[in-house]
Amino acid sequence: MSYSTIRYSLADVAKCNGKNGVRTWIVIHDNIYDVTDYMQQHPGGPELIDEYAGKDATSEFDEFGHSSDATKMLKKYLIGELEDEDKRVNRIKKRAANGIKMKGEDKQKRRPFLRLICGKCTC
Ligand code: HEM
Repeated sequence: MSYSTIRYSLADVAKCNGKNGVRTWIVIHDNIYDVTDYMQQHPGGPELIDEYAGKDATSEFDEFGHSSDATKMLKKYLIGELEDEDKRVNRIKKRAANGIKMKGEDKQKRRPFLRLICGKCTC
């Protein structure tokens, strides 16, 4: 069985925050990485990773514009992926951060259009 098939929740990840001898896990794009053995080698310093220990570091990882080598390097530390419910939570957070959360009145406007394109659908 591949490691990537092991699912953890955000709450499981939060427990692995590098404190009191526990390992350091971070989430990037819904994948979970155990970066305990990598942190000291990080060109940006271990403290940058430590700041996201037990958390989702996707935006920060992407915002820095890491090279494709850095992205490939991640594979070595992959231990699993988020449970579907937490992936959903992350998607909602991402949409909210991008300012595309739909308001009630927008949903109302969208309904006739959806009915038009999906026939009998009453959504
Ligand atoms: C475990 C995940 C990470 C890996 C494998 C990783 C890997 C790397 C690598 C290989 C570099 C050298 C430049 C490059 O090839 O892009 C780098 C630089 C850097 N990383 Fe990360 N990184 C990780 C997480 C993070 C996070 C979460 C942050 C921000 C909070 C961050 C911020 C930086 C910064 C600021 C540099 C530039 C350092 C400098 O040029 O002085 N990295 N990282």
